[in-house]
Amino acid sequence: MKKLIDKLYSETKLSRDEYIELISRHTQEDAEYLFSLAVKRRREYYGNDVYVRGLIEFTNYCKNDCFYCGIRRSNKCAQRYRLGQDDIMSCCEEGHALGFRTFVLQGGEDPYFTDERICGIVSQIKSEYPDCAVTLSIGEKEHESYRAYFDAGADRYLLRHETASAEHYGRLHPSEMSHSHRIKCLYDLKSIGYQVGCGFMVGSPFQTSENLADDMLFIKELSPHMVGIGPFISQHDTPFYDKKSGTLEQTLFMLGLIRLTLPYVLLPATTALGTIHPLGREKGILAGANVVMPNLSPVSVRKKYLLYDNKICTGDEAAECKNCLQMRMKSIGYNVVTARGDCAVL
Ligand code: 5AD
Ligand code: FES
Repeated sequence: MKKLIDKLYSETKLSRDEYIELISRHTQEDAEYLFSLAVKRRREYYGNDVYVRGLIEFTNYCKNDCFYCGIRRSNKCAQRYRLGQDDIMSCCEEGHALGFRTFVLQGGEDPYFTDERICGIVSQIKSEYPDCAVTLSIGEKEHESYRAYFDAGADRYLLRHETASAEHYGRLHPSEMSHSHRIKCLYDLKSIGYQVGCGFMVGSPFQTSENLADDMLFIKELSPHMVGIGPFISQHDTPFYDKKSGTLEQTLFMLGLIRLTLPYVLLPATTALGTIHPLGREKGILAGANVVMPNLSPVSVRKKYLLYDNKICTGDEAAECKNCLQMRMKSIGYNVVTARGDCAVL
């Protein structure tokens, strides 16, 4: 296996069969070798810096019904909330004072937030904090909507592709959702000029090593600026309530593969990773990640944005989250930097 890992390190890609073999047959020793090369590669571009993004979860209303997600429309137990523009601006004010220079506005696909409202929010943030990047993560839209947000000042957009396999996608989503539309969205976003992030869950129900290999090939082809991955974690009020969660081990391995496949990519150690293991985010950084995303949402709504069970950080103020992550990164020899943290290459 070491040979394949060396090949990935020098060529930054493998064939589908080679990815499948690595994903399905690696040992713990192979994984450690992968992480050592992933860290080496990441250092070439980003040194020991870890970027922070202030996450604002501004609505948990969603018109979609993804089988895995705790805020799916059919979940009658979810307590719904949305933040108004003023609440969002207060989050930014607090975040800016703490040093954040990227705000990520994440929400369900909530029709209340029309293009006009989103553009109004984006342009107010950009005019009050011109030194900050605004990232949107609000789902699938049409080209003209993406265009309008970009013209209003949005810099980046996160839209996880969830799985590169249309067949697998069909088992995670109701039939009214379309895999090809989701992929089209990512290409639209790129062509408009956004810094784009795709991503997927590791260990989602029915996922095979072949699916993960196809995710790697898709990521290589799209060549996004960011890739967000985390373990699937079951949520008790969803159709997948009894499905097994993804593992720490497999998520770390995929982080390492992504780092070697896209050397310059911005790769978060996600909250979901921190949820399945107390040191998940630290381990994520040591497997090749270089971004963390502390939560800036008001504590009053934190416990309502529950995509999955046992989510961490739901009782902590923004400052506590930031300090906590700063200490955690320091404990493994990394520096949290508050710069905008644009992609090193693209
Ligand atoms: N477990 C882990 N991640 C989840 N997401 C949604 N539901 C879950 C879950 N149960 C992820 C999806 C989505 C992102 C915002 O959160 O990949 O794109
Ligand atoms: Fe939120 Fe540790 S990062 S409490």
